[in-house]
Amino acid sequence: MGITFNEEKKVFLLKTKNTSYQFRVAEFGFLEHLYYGRRVEEAVDYIPVRLRHGFEANPYEMKQDRTLCLDVLEQEYPGFGVSDFKTSACSIIHADGSNCIDFRYVSHRIYNGKYTIEGMPSLRNKGDDWMTLEVVLQDVATKVEVTLFYGVLESCDVITRHAVIRNLEDTEITLHAAHSTCLSFPTDEMDQIDFYGSWGHERNAQRTPVRHGKTVVDSIRGISSHYYNPTIVLCDHETTETAGDCYGVALVYSGNFQITVEVNDFKQTRVVAGIHPDTFYWKLNPGETFATPEAVMSFSAAGLTGLSHHYHDVVRHFLIPGQFENQRCPVLLNNWEATMIDFDEEQLMQIASAGKELGVEMFVMDDGWFGRRTNEFRGLGDWQCNLEKLPSGIAGFSKRIHGLGLKFGIWIEPEMISEDSRLYEEHPDWCIAIPGRKPTRQRYQLILDYSRDEVVEYIFDQIYNEFKDAEIDYIKWDMNRSMTDRFSQALPAERQGELCHRYVLGFYKLMEKLTTTFPQIRFEGCCGGGGRFDMGVLYYAPQIWCSDDTDAIERICIQHGTSFFYPPSVMGAHVSVCPNQQTGRSVSIDTRAALAYYGTFGYELDPNELNDEEKEAVKRQIQYYQEHALTSAFGKYYRLTGVGHEFVAFMSVADDQKSAVFSFVQRRTSANKGIIYIKLRGLNEAAVYTIPELGLELSGASLMYAGLPMPVIKADNTAKTFTLIQK
Ligand code: GLA
Repeated sequence: MGITFNEEKKVFLLKTKNTSYQFRVAEFGFLEHLYYGRRVEEAVDYIPVRLRHGFEANPYEMKQDRTLCLDVLEQEYPGFGVSDFKTSACSIIHADGSNCIDFRYVSHRIYNGKYTIEGMPSLRNKGDDWMTLEVVLQDVATKVEVTLFYGVLESCDVITRHAVIRNLEDTEITLHAAHSTCLSFPTDEMDQIDFYGSWGHERNAQRTPVRHGKTVVDSIRGISSHYYNPTIVLCDHETTETAGDCYGVALVYSGNFQITVEVNDFKQTRVVAGIHPDTFYWKLNPGETFATPEAVMSFSAAGLTGLSHHYHDVVRHFLIPGQFENQRCPVLLNNWEATMIDFDEEQLMQIASAGKELGVEMFVMDDGWFGRRTNEFRGLGDWQCNLEKLPSGIAGFSKRIHGLGLKFGIWIEPEMISEDSRLYEEHPDWCIAIPGRKPTRQRYQLILDYSRDEVVEYIFDQIYNEFKDAEIDYIKWDMNRSMTDRFSQALPAERQGELCHRYVLGFYKLMEKLTTTFPQIRFEGCCGGGGRFDMGVLYYAPQIWCSDDTDAIERICIQHGTSFFYPPSVMGAHVSVCPNQQTGRSVSIDTRAALAYYGTFGYELDPNELNDEEKEAVKRQIQYYQEHALTSAFGKYYRLTGVGHEFVAFMSVADDQKSAVFSFVQRRTSANKGIIYIKLRGLNEAAVYTIPELGLELSGASLMYAGLPMPVIKADNTAKTFTLIQK
């Protein structure tokens, strides 16, 4: 049973295949966290020890007994202002201006299946695997309630959380913080791994010991952002890729978020994750509710790779739209790096035809096809074809591309507006800007106010009308700026704090509408590369463009960091021309492909400009991906090394262990070097694998335990890819 309640001890026991999560109804109804980790069968209610501490406040009910203080008692959903002085999960201003909130247990229910969150993405309730626990808590002095939702997915060792706050008072209240989850550990002997970055350098894994005080990983840019990913790992100091305890927390959310890790004076570590409170407040009228986004938690005792595999499984099977499960993206050719915005129909036809000759399966027309878009300063918001560039229109052009035997994809950036556009002329108040203050521009564009239904509806109608008669197989959905000048002309002053979250809800609404209206279209998320790479977007789009930095060597680090929470199958990764447009570096075309194989695979170039040797390489690479994508992108992914300066190795093993794809990248060569041995992982020990590129036949056991000697490569930044096929 995934969830039980021990009546006698008042302990909730949540169990997955290998993990347990426990909490209890403690004295006076406080909901007290007990344990999360390796599976234990019994209730561990002996864990909390009540002690008298110096200078600690006590709940009124304790009378003269000073042994219970909320600074030590670890609450599942800590309120604010009543002596738990750590980061709170929830903070509320009541009608009288006071802002204490002190939640106590009221009731609970347990059922099969999983809750859904209206208007927001969350892991899908498929199969019979899920169980749900709902626990209702109420403030001790008012009728403000919170329902805590726990989803237990046994097979993936995953526990989800989300909360719904309900105002049952007869006056309004204002939420100042409403987080998704709070997770506690009785120790500070832990490391945290978070994923920082910037444009072109997304998701660098950074590991540091947790420390006294607060460490915050966050975004207030309106999007989850290039700068921090809404995910975090907590683990033992000794935990490695292959062994040790580790925990993950990932938000299914695409907007402003905050993950706080706090160590207190008793060396307890608390993690609180959810919507960023600095850019948020929300008015709740009597009877109204507020739902937080979902947080996905997991634990592995098998090291970081084990934890990643839990998240990879859950993303592949319970998050992305079901029709794309285990379906690879057609090998695509995108014209962005080849032409930028400056193209016409015949030029694109030539690029597409040349791609077809090499074996490409889909042509994607990037930015520049609509409205007045003759440069990047204009046109956004007008989703009608620019007939000067494309005389056949989108319907006609898509048919021409299909006529070549290619699928057809198109780029849109529906959340944006250029001041130089018809839409702006008609509706200048539809953008996010403060009247009387010149708005900050980024790439010369402004953001549409998606907190307004009429804006979302209007953009939907435009896109629908333009695309309904076209033959579209794929849409790249871009978003190219941070949110500033936060103000909606449709919200009253006291609701301006709702804008950022309402914007995200509007974004999800449009995504939901478009993806359900066009279920056959595969969407790819994008945000100046990987600036909105999160589980919220993946609910609608089965893949996200990883980074605008297509340099294979830079991609090592980007894809390595991304792989902690996201499987290769969702990582947009392409081969582009050299010298690389972002870094100026040149590496072989096979090295570029070696990284893209562990992703959605495609090309960002003009095939007409390749030499004969490169053209042959492209043909060979496409065939390789067609044959092995279900292994390299959809198999179990292993980070075999870190991202060091000498060499890097990674591999994927098919779920049935019958094949594997392994890549070794020599970063820096030097004279008179020793041989590098790499121990492979995830293979069937007893099986024999042939490795055609090396002319070897070896058992899984030899490859994993004795290792494989790497060839001597007399060149810097050169990758070799090897295929393992079970005999
Ligand atoms: C963003 C994307 C690119 C490209 C351009 C087009 O930067 O990440 O891939 O689509 O926009 O403007």
